[in-house]
Amino acid sequence: MYLYREIEAEWAANIAKGLVRPGEAMPSVREMCRRKQASPATILAAYARLEGKGLIQAKPRSGYYVSAKAGHLPEEPRISSPSSAPTSVQVGDWVMRMLRRDIHRDQTPLGAAFPALELLPSLPLSRHYAKAGRVLGREALAYVLPPGNPDLLRQIARHSWQWGAGLLPEETLITSGCLEALTLGLRAVARAGDIVAIESPTYFAILQAMENLGMRALEIPTHPRKGMDLDALATAMKKHSIRACLLAPNFNNPLGSLMPDSHKSRLVHMLGKAGIPLIEDDIYGDLHFGEKRPKPAKAFDRKGLVIYCASFSKTLDPGARIGWVSGGKFHPQIMRLKVMNTLVSATLPQAALAAYLETGAYEKHLRRLRVALKDQVQHMVMAAQRHFPEGTRISRPQGGFTLWVEFPQRIQTLALAEAAEREGISLAPGPIFSAGGHFRHCLRLSCGHPWTAYLEEALRTVGKLCHTPG
Ligand SMILES: Cc1ncc(COP(=O)(O)O)c(C=O)c1O
Repeated sequence: MYLYREIEAEWAANIAKGLVRPGEAMPSVREMCRRKQASPATILAAYARLEGKGLIQAKPRSGYYVSAKAGHLPEEPRISSPSSAPTSVQVGDWVMRMLRRDIHRDQTPLGAAFPALELLPSLPLSRHYAKAGRVLGREALAYVLPPGNPDLLRQIARHSWQWGAGLLPEETLITSGCLEALTLGLRAVARAGDIVAIESPTYFAILQAMENLGMRALEIPTHPRKGMDLDALATAMKKHSIRACLLAPNFNNPLGSLMPDSHKSRLVHMLGKAGIPLIEDDIYGDLHFGEKRPKPAKAFDRKGLVIYCASFSKTLDPGARIGWVSGGKFHPQIMRLKVMNTLVSATLPQAALAAYLETGAYEKHLRRLRVALKDQVQHMVMAAQRHFPEGTRISRPQGGFTLWVEFPQRIQTLALAEAAEREGISLAPGPIFSAGGHFRHCLRLSCGHPWTAYLEEALRTVGKLCHTPG
């Protein structure tokens, strides 16, 4: 890591731990140069970043001070309390509206959760695409039948060894993105009309997939930091005939919550006892802010009832549309469904990604990406705190790059998103994350882009719109 980033991280931690308090002076630039054996430019760069995060402030001719609000993080959103009845799913046209704006990049991108392209290793990847094309020759035009490119399957299995048990290549299948993996998982274990328990809030495309398949959603209260409330799930299991459970224990989108390992183990055990399959979405698992890659629930699965789904869309190459599903005992059905659904996934991206992973560059890239995303999330939290109305609650994501904001009840985010759209800012309003249309005063902010004055200005505008009646 660059020295200025190390100094920034060290002092952000000192402030968070209360070792220096609001109003107290920071060490002078000269003192820091001496302590760190660094140039004034390095120290000033670190201080500028701390200032950008709202942790310190410069006072003319006096030096830097810890700002009054530093260390006072806003309250977290409340644990959700959705309706306890299953709902048929209907997600409005907001999702398409938001995606269109973000994909065409004609609005400030706070809506769709895409990583900024400059954070992705486009140059090495394009070399691997070119090389894979040359190596494959005419074969690049041929189908690769399920389960998919064997080299890629091997690399995916190797990558999963870091969380212990790992995925079995013989139970894993390449899909067209994580969304196809999730949809195949749903179709393998449930039918139209069946009840599927999901987190509340949950990623809107999961709701759309369920709408498409005619399944009913049972939203389970979800804690903003620890994930699905397992006592609430146990109660729901007694009351309803739940056919499957679909959740993201590692960094739910939009909350960024991380289910503790003890809860994952209890979840797998509880569902296993009742014979209920768990479809696990681990697309954000590699984007942890803590030291260690969290285990997925799949690591606790002894009965083959966990269907593990992920992709490279958030970390490497969203356009490749390459994901995977490790289906446990449902693998044969999932293979059949893949053939019926899209037959195969694209040949060239599979070969190019396999070759890229083979070089070992992915782990290095992930380390850099995680640092960048954590930084972007911190900037967004501080800016939201600066600009959003009193009483706004903000999540504390432990990974991924989405932030969940709970405004005071009077602020209706569908109207807010419309108003922001007119100002050239794309937002994801709360109700698209719920089958029952909850979260009318909530908002998801995407932190996929490096922090700039432009984003700060966009948050200031959203804050102002919160105060505008209607
Ligand atoms: C939680 C979650 N699951 C699945 C997906 C879909 O992934 P993919 O683009 O690989 O289909 C996304 C994409 O935004 C997501 O946020």
